[in-house]
Amino acid sequence: MGGGLRLTILAIAVAALVHCSTAQTTHYVGDELGWLIPPGGPITYKIWAESQKFTVGDILVFNFTNGEHDVAWVTKEAFSYCNSTEPISLKTTSPANFTLNTTGEYYFIGTKDRHCVLGQKLAIYVSAYPGPTPSPAPRSGPKTHTVGDKLGWFVPPGGELFYAAWAYDNTFLVGDTLVFNFINGTQDVAVVTNDVYKNCSTDTTIEVYKSSPANIVLKTTGEHFFTSTYERHCFLGQKLAINVTGSTTANPPSISLAPASHGPAAGGPDPPPFSSAHRRINVNGFFFTSLLTAVVAFFY
Ligand SMILES: *[C@@H]1O[C@H](CO)[C@@H](O)[C@H](O)[C@H]1NC(C)=O
Ligand SMILES: *[C@@H]1O[C@H](CO)[C@@H](O)[C@H](O)[C@H]1NC(C)=O
Ligand SMILES: *[C@@H]1O[C@H](CO)[C@@H](O)[C@H](O)[C@H]1NC(C)=O
Ligand SMILES: *[C@@H]1O[C@H](CO)[C@@H](O)[C@H](O)[C@H]1NC(C)=O
Ligand SMILES: *[C@@H]1O[C@H](CO)[C@@H](O)[C@H](O)[C@H]1NC(C)=O
Ligand SMILES: *[C@@H]1O[C@H](CO)[C@@H](O)[C@H](O)[C@H]1NC(C)=O
Ligand SMILES: *[C@@H]1O[C@H](CO)[C@@H](O)[C@H](O)[C@H]1NC(C)=O
Repeated sequence: MGGGLRLTILAIAVAALVHCSTAQTTHYVGDELGWLIPPGGPITYKIWAESQKFTVGDILVFNFTNGEHDVAWVTKEAFSYCNSTEPISLKTTSPANFTLNTTGEYYFIGTKDRHCVLGQKLAIYVSAYPGPTPSPAPRSGPKTHTVGDKLGWFVPPGGELFYAAWAYDNTFLVGDTLVFNFINGTQDVAVVTNDVYKNCSTDTTIEVYKSSPANIVLKTTGEHFFTSTYERHCFLGQKLAINVTGSTTANPPSISLAPASHGPAAGGPDPPPFSSAHRRINVNGFFFTSLLTAVVAFFY
């Protein structure tokens, strides 16, 4: 490794460490992408949020094209349903800054047209101290997941991103139950293979549930695929892919770097937008490991 490169790495490592310990951080939402309808759907801002550490006093900057976009600070429920009728506050000129004055959850959506449904939405957790976000309390038992939450199982207006976003907000473990709520005779639930999930040739199914509610217990790890046998439903986005990752009795060890006492929902059920907090810890863990590796490498 050349000396210049080593110096660069050390400088980056030190800058990152210093950055982590300064009192106020300005977060540019989406970084270079800014605030728009993200090409990757709702997961885009979720992944961005997981890469950040929000502390009281930080500033959130939404950079967007005036007239085309806006940003509303909303309640959790309004965020879930993309309801922009009564935002807590609405900003229509870029850059729109929000100072994160208190700990807790903050929710933001774009209110134009269908921007929110298409993924212009951001949920963050603001903690009191700099440092890794505590992991939520481990789950003690199996959980029931209502597919699509209150909206249920239907042909989603936003297309397949709707169920992709729903799945992303949930952690599925062996022993959990999926509940599909639909209207008898107008929908059904077909358990299918990955191929059928992709190409929507629903003549071939593993199992079909015709009566609502359909309760399906997740018995194996790995990917599970669901759609509907009704004509065009699959093509229109009534399809769900989930990844079952373990069992409630044998949780994979999660790296806990901080006491869980000030967590987003210590002891309670994990709130949807933060259920993947352990992934964030892993990301941070990797990040810090990488930094240390870089610093150690410098001294060799
Ligand atoms: C904000 O967005 C504009 C255009 O979309 C871009 O030129 C500018 O660099 C962005 N600013 C920041 C701070 O990212
Ligand atoms: C949207 O929010 C408003 C105000 O909270 C509420 O009155 C209305 O019923 C909500 N609309 C939907 C579709 O949930
Ligand atoms: C928003 O924050 C950015 C970065 O700190 C700053 O350049 C900009 O002037 C602020 N805008 C307003 C309206 O406060
Ligand atoms: C934070 O406090 C400042 C000063 O009181 C206020 O202007 C700002 O609107 C507050 N931010 C939020 C998100 O409430
Ligand atoms: C879709 O995939 C299934 C399973 O691999 C296959 O039998 C079927 O021929 C495919 N249909 C189309 C239209 O590609
Ligand atoms: C659907 O049909 C089943 C069996 O006929 C019935 O038990 C169930 O209540 C129906 N569900 C709804 C939502 O109407
Ligand atoms: C499902 O989880 C396993 C193990 O964590 C992982 O290897 C696999 O890539 C995941 N599949 C998808 C589609 O995310």
